[in-house]
Amino acid sequence: MNKRRTYLLIVAGVALGASSCTTDKNSPGTEYMPDMYRSPAIEAYVDYGMDPYNFSDSMAVSQRNTPSARKPVAGTIPYGSQENLVFALPYAYDNTTDGYEASAVNRSPIAHSQENADKGKVIYERMCKHCHGAKGEGDGTISTNGFILGIPSYSGKLADLPEGKMYHTLTFGKGLMGSHASQLTPKERWEVIEYVKVLQNGGKFVADAPAAAVAENLADAENAPE
Ligand code: HEC
Repeated sequence: MNKRRTYLLIVAGVALGASSCTTDKNSPGTEYMPDMYRSPAIEAYVDYGMDPYNFSDSMAVSQRNTPSARKPVAGTIPYGSQENLVFALPYAYDNTTDGYEASAVNRSPIAHSQENADKGKVIYERMCKHCHGAKGEGDGTISTNGFILGIPSYSGKLADLPEGKMYHTLTFGKGLMGSHASQLTPKERWEVIEYVKVLQNGGKFVADAPAAAVAENLADAENAPE
């Protein structure tokens, strides 16, 4: 019995030894658990059409959740240069009446310069003029055709409107004006505001006039009851 066992062990040993040596020196040899070497890789942004944690054949494709392409967590700041970081920071004011009032003290991160006003004019003529009119008097074609009435004039009723509130309105919308957050990047919103400030002054670029309006609103905001 003992002899036979020894004999079997030798045979097994030789078989194992033989299988571990192959003629190809670069071969890693036999893999006993290939899944550990090559785990199934999920590529980002590839829709595999299923969520292994929550999958049902009857689900519409749009309902299926792919684990590889999740949205970033709220408040995530994209990696980028210092120059663009200021536009990437989360917006601090809520989409509420209180948030709107508080946004009066929000300052533009870009300079009040002729150059930025010129960039803003291009955006204004494409995206705002049809409602607000060429001079910002609220007489764009959508207004004169009777679709939206009572659009306020920048140099009239809105002459003292601070830039922070303008940005709030562009971001969330106000009354019959929709949000422009999906059409304009934060930087573009501030640029078009530079041109609205020119229109507040009757179309003239004045270096310090908007600052005066801002200072007045700042004082109002500071004196406002809590
Ligand atoms: C569909 C028409 C329409 C378009 C397009 C539009 N607006 Fe307006 N906008 C309005 C109306 C209506 C109001 C008045 C909202 C209210 O006070 O109820 C308004 C108000 C404003 C105000 C005053 C907001 C405040 O806080 O009182 C600003 C500033 C403004 N718009 C800027 C812009 C700019 C800049 C654009 C282009 C990017 C634009 N709007 C595009 C219709 C429009």
